[in-house]
Amino acid sequence: MALRTIESLGDLAGKRVIVRCDLNVPLSEGTVTDDGRIRASLPTLNALLHRGAKVIVISHLGRPEGAPDERYSLAPVAQRLSELLGAPVAFSSDTVGPSADDTVDGLESGQVALLENLRFNPGETSKVESERAAFAAQLARYGDSMVSDGFGVVHRKQASVYELAQALPSAAGSLIAGETDVLDRLTESPERPYTVVLGGSKVSDKLGVIAHLLPRVDRLLIGGGMLFTFLKAQGHEVGASLLEEDQLDTVRGYLSEATERGVEIVLPTDVVVAERFAADASWSVQPADAIESGPAGASGLGLDIGPDTARRFAELVASSTTVFWNGPMGVFEFPAFAHGTRAVAEALTQVAGLGVVGGGDSAAAVRALGFGDVDFGHVSTGGGASLEFLEGKKLPGLEVLGWQ
Ligand code: 3PG
Repeated sequence: MALRTIESLGDLAGKRVIVRCDLNVPLSEGTVTDDGRIRASLPTLNALLHRGAKVIVISHLGRPEGAPDERYSLAPVAQRLSELLGAPVAFSSDTVGPSADDTVDGLESGQVALLENLRFNPGETSKVESERAAFAAQLARYGDSMVSDGFGVVHRKQASVYELAQALPSAAGSLIAGETDVLDRLTESPERPYTVVLGGSKVSDKLGVIAHLLPRVDRLLIGGGMLFTFLKAQGHEVGASLLEEDQLDTVRGYLSEATERGVEIVLPTDVVVAERFAADASWSVQPADAIESGPAGASGLGLDIGPDTARRFAELVASSTTVFWNGPMGVFEFPAFAHGTRAVAEALTQVAGLGVVGGGDSAAAVRALGFGDVDFGHVSTGGGASLEFLEGKKLPGLEVLGWQ
């Protein structure tokens, strides 16, 4: 069954519509440093405003412990949202208290309010269903209906994501509809050749996605810190590079499964090895099957894929029709070790079919390197959510909207 759409909620003119967004964005000294998730929420908010709804936006930010904590206030997000909408956003200093009551009461058709961080309330993330339901009931007082559009949080069974969508007539917003459409194409009917590029530090974070995608892809390219566990599994030394010893058997299993299925697992042939983990560390390019020591004689630390590998990865990506990329190729935060990530990002912009950047670190990486969302087929707003979707898991925040 498909997701329920906003149309199913009927005429929304003058109605109060609660919109669950994921406005969990990075902040620095009270300023939003990456507003990608706020921008991604605008189409649904504008569509509802256009229909004359009173729009009440709710979101979490960070992981406060169920009580107000100034560091996680959504106030800077309200400010940025207002700038992007080009309209005032009324901000309530609590989530379901007197300030929220007044803010919602004061809303006119075509106006927007943002309530304070949902996670300032213990009911939001409670493991106890009745506590979540009680908090959802408090939120539900503010709405005639609910639109769920926080794709980044659909893998969480939390009050505003799951129970609230049951407490009110609810539907998916266009962000969730777009994300599920793209991610579904990656698992159900990808156009070939289909390449998946995985990076990031830990293999253990990617086990589910490798297992689920291995039968579906033509090539799997491995970079980032996790590549060293693959190299070690093939019998190579990796110096002081990141290594998950306890995953070696699992990785060997993937390597032999890939051979049986005729899937190409492409591992780096060269790596950038630094003497220590620092932006100004000295480094050298070494063959991936002979990593020994750093330039200073210390045990080497692999911090990026090497130039030959970056070229090969770029060719394979650019010549694919469908590509999904999750996880940086190296420590892109340090310019000396950002070349591999940049090369893959650049190649992804050239994919003629569908090139998808997974959320979380990968989306942050492409933006930090100066790419725009428009450069790619799709940039997901969900880190954990998009990975769990591609692992084939059932996501509570989608199921409750009719997704099967
Ligand atoms: C994310 O950033 O991945 C989402 O906003 C979910 O946040 P969480 O991992 O704290 O639930």
